[in-house]
Amino acid sequence: MYATHLSCPKCSATYESEQLMQVCECGAPLLVDYDLPKIRSVLTKKILKEREPTLWRYRELLPVKREENIVCLGEGMTPLLPLKNLGPQLGIPNLFLKDEGIIPTGTFKARGAAVGVSRAKELGVKVLAMPTNGNAGAAWAVYCAAAGIDAVIVMPVDAPPIPRGECAISGACLYLVEGLISDAGKIVARAVADYGWFDASTLKEPYRIEGKKPMGLERAEQFNWQMPDVILYPTGGGVGIIGIYKALMELKEMGWVEGKLPRLVAVQATGCAPIVKAFEENRTESDFWQDAKTCAFGITVPKALGDFLVLDAIYRTEGCAVAVHDKEQLEACALLGRTEGAFICPEGAANLSAAIQLKASGWIRPEDRVVLLNTGSGLKYPETVTLSPPVLHPGDRLPDVQ
Ligand SMILES: Cc1ncc(COP(=O)(O)O)c(C=O)c1O
Ligand SMILES: [Zn+2]
Repeated sequence: MYATHLSCPKCSATYESEQLMQVCECGAPLLVDYDLPKIRSVLTKKILKEREPTLWRYRELLPVKREENIVCLGEGMTPLLPLKNLGPQLGIPNLFLKDEGIIPTGTFKARGAAVGVSRAKELGVKVLAMPTNGNAGAAWAVYCAAAGIDAVIVMPVDAPPIPRGECAISGACLYLVEGLISDAGKIVARAVADYGWFDASTLKEPYRIEGKKPMGLERAEQFNWQMPDVILYPTGGGVGIIGIYKALMELKEMGWVEGKLPRLVAVQATGCAPIVKAFEENRTESDFWQDAKTCAFGITVPKALGDFLVLDAIYRTEGCAVAVHDKEQLEACALLGRTEGAFICPEGAANLSAAIQLKASGWIRPEDRVVLLNTGSGLKYPETVTLSPPVLHPGDRLPDVQ
């Protein structure tokens, strides 16, 4: 294991990495630091080539120490698909979809859960609790079942229904709250204080973000260690964008990638866009977004604990933050399905709407290599597709295709 310690990006305090930690004393999220020169001396791109196609192929850059603690359901190394029909149609011929829809539990949340739960198991956690917009709770419930950890999951009553079933089938204690993820978070915080459970809320433990890093590592490896120009990410708590940025910085420090980092784009919905507002006002932190509402439920996060890290990643990469309307997201979903046969989630589709917007404004140039991160499968959101197929009677004849 090459993790050396935990450090606070806000006040620079450091902590020993073998103790079970939540946040820094100052309240900010903690990040894992590694001995990168040492990793560079033991890991080569050639060694990597021969490894299994899961995120654990990058184990030197992950925090789990002993192999027996790894809980793996096959997560990671998702395909990077060139959008050969849609890209040229939009004037972005080098447009790619990194598709997390085929990962266990159907969303990229499996990555954070795999690494977060494995490390929690290693550090002796018996019960953990988390507020969620659905998909993260489902993923953590599933991995906790495999790890033998009790999971308590609290999600809004309005969250999409499928993750509830995933929590139930994994034996998690599931609660619904009449409110938003921020309300669920307060309930979890109280229970954690009362019972001494481990708090697995977004960025309140240091390891979920490490599980998101391979989204950046894989992308670099899949592009043969060249960096794309733009990466779009649907941002709620922002763990993915922070993880991708951290991964690329680590690769840079190891000398595995060179040149400018991709411009990172945080995509939000107009019904909940605290990061976009902060970006437009050139600020380093966001304000709580009142009356948050969007069909892309996963990105309904009115105030993220790691907002300052998301904004920092955007500013440092000369990226930006963009808000899109729900209607555009659903249209983008249909467009991608029709042109590429990809059934993606509304959060992922928000990226496509944002890319169209940024191409129209000239921010995305025709020669840019652009990656849309689809964070989940459309199969988890059957309610977003409206249809009324004609019903036939036995013996009816079909009309010719128009
Ligand atoms: C499908 C999907 N995409 C994106 C997100 C946003 O992830 P994050 O909160 O890490 O920014 C979520 C969060 O629930 C999600 O479920
Ligand atoms: Zn601190």
